[in-house]
This record gives sequence, structure tokens and C-alpha cells, in this order.
Amino acid sequence: MTKTAIKDLLAGTYNATPVYSKTGQMILPAHTLLTTQQISRLEFYGIDWVNIQDPSDPVADADTSAQEEEFVSFSQKLRKSREFHTFKVDYKKQTQFLESSFDNLLTKSTPVEPDKLIKQVSSLYVNNFTSLSVFDMLHNMRQVDDSTYAHSINVALIARMLGEWLHLPEEELNVLTAAGLLHDIGKCTINQKILSKPGALTPTEFSQVKQHPKNGANILASQKLDKRIIEAALMHHERCDGSGYPSKLKANEISDFAKIIAIADVYDAMTSSRCYRKGLCPFEVIATFEREGLEKYGTEYILVFLTRIIDTYMGNSVLLNDGSTGNILLINSQKLSRPLLRLNNGEYLNLIKHPELYIQAII
Ligand SMILES: [Fe+2]
Ligand SMILES: [Fe+2]
Repeated sequence: MTKTAIKDLLAGTYNATPVYSKTGQMILPAHTLLTTQQISRLEFYGIDWVNIQDPSDPVADADTSAQEEEFVSFSQKLRKSREFHTFKVDYKKQTQFLESSFDNLLTKSTPVEPDKLIKQVSSLYVNNFTSLSVFDMLHNMRQVDDSTYAHSINVALIARMLGEWLHLPEEELNVLTAAGLLHDIGKCTINQKILSKPGALTPTEFSQVKQHPKNGANILASQKLDKRIIEAALMHHERCDGSGYPSKLKANEISDFAKIIAIADVYDAMTSSRCYRKGLCPFEVIATFEREGLEKYGTEYILVFLTRIIDTYMGNSVLLNDGSTGNILLINSQKLSRPLLRLNNGEYLNLIKHPELYIQAII
């Protein structure tokens, strides 16, 4: 094992010995896979260094490969499946189609054909999967394609799913799908170098990016499109508390479809900004929404969205960051990311009362 300073820790390594806080509370049991989130936690607790396992440590190897297997097996299995292969081929076709539609509109003023777009993307959704696997498929597609076109397809599919959960009629689901596909068309007017810049944007660059909702709405205004599609392009970065852009609108000024697209947009952005080698943990995403403040989003939509995502995992086994495992028993409506669990040792654990613990993975 190697004593390593926190600042030098790499995500993906394992600690060899348990880590305790200065008050003697155990923060991490031995042989825990260190994620970026856990490294931040160690920093938060003021830990200066930890003992890292060397690959030659035989005990650690046995432990970690079992742990790793639990984390990745679902994604690995999914990626090897024939269904995923079919999805990938279809998805690539749709992405190319969307790209050429955008291109034709912007360079040759060829009108967008929303019906054609909707039909193609909806088939991707309707033909293949249950609600859970759409998320899993999208998550796994991330590693294949991370373009604005792929993002637009993801937002369309996620928004459509939320629309179904809200029991919207088919006609509205179609408008919502088109709104998702076209919401970021204004990004085509922003310098590609800025959009793909890896680091933080300068204030000037950010103010340019902030033009994309207005630019998008202007492009779409010349098309024969449902008004709700144009509004979604214009308002999808507005937030109900007035903290959004470009016009700092308040809840009652933002269109319903823009609120739905905003949720799908943020969900997709959140899942893309992290390394999901270990598989998407919906509770982490939900916790991020809660940290940001649910009041920013249309409450009637965000609560349905997050609750339905959690419902999919009710009764599932989960792994906590201290290595313990259990089942989800009850959702705490005040804090959706912190349900009541029944641990495998028979104890009940209310995560609301244990801020030091969080659900790390669905197993
Ligand atoms: Fe956007
Ligand atoms: Fe977007």
C-alpha cells in the first residue's frame, strides 16, 4: 500500500485501510473504490492522506474485482446485448438525419419537417424499450456520441417520457418531442470552439453561449411550427425563480413545454458531465437537482419526474458509500434522494438523519 496525499488521489483507486474523521467517525471502510465524489468528501472532512492499495495486494484484488463486477455488470451486459446494438444503429441514423436537417435549414433554408423528425425519433422510443431502459440506453450511448445532435435526441426522448408520465395526449407528446429535438438549434450559430471548450468559459464566451435561445427561436420563427416549439427553444434556460436566461422570466411567464424541456435538458447535461463508467446512479442525479433547488423547475413537473425515476428503483438493492447494502423501503417526500432503507443486517436507516451517507449505486 502507498500513503497518498488527498490532492494526488485518482478516482478509480482503492483505499487499503479504513479512513476515520478527526473525531473518530469512520468515513470510508477499507477497500472502497474512490470516486471523485468520495475524494471531495475526504477533502470536506479535512483528511490529508489515505493509504492506497497497490495492485499487487492479493486480498484487495479479490475484494475489488467483486465490487467492480457488481458496479459494471449491468452496463456491460447492456452494451453487449443485441438490443443495444440495434438501438445504437438506429440512434446513429437519427443523429445523422437531425444533423442534415439542421444543416439544410441553416445553409439552404430548407424547411424543417417536424412530422418526419418526430416519426423517426418516436420510433426509437416506442419500438424498443420500457421507460427504464431508455435511460440506460441513453446513458450507454454517451460513450459513443456526445454531440449537440445526440443531446437533442436525448432531450426529446426524456421529455417525451416525462410527457407520458404526465398523461399528455399523443398530439402534445409529438409537439414535445419536436421541441426537444429543436431546443438547441440556436447552438449552430455559436462558435464551435466555444461550445467544445473543455475548461470554464470566460464571461464574454458565456454571454455568447447565452444567445443561443434567442437565436434558435429566431431561426424557428421563420418556419411553420407550433408556437410551443419556438417557446421551448426561447425559454428552456429560464428558471422559475427568475435565475435563468436570456430574460430572467418567472414561473408564470415560462411556457409549460419550456419547463418540461428544461428538466430533460438539465437531466441530460448532468448525466453527461460525469464519468459514468460505474453506471448511472439516479439518486446522485436527484441529489444534484435537490442541491440546485427544485423551486427552479416547474414543481408540478419536477416532482413527477424525480418520483417516477425513483419508483422504477423501489425495492431495489442499493450500495451506500460506507459499503453497507440494503433495500429502498420508503421515499421521503421532503428529500427524494434520501429514502428510508432496510439494511441487510436487519436495521432500518433513514438517510435524512445521516448526511454522511448516500446511495452510491443500484446493485
Ligand atoms: Fe440550450
Ligand atoms: Fe440543451
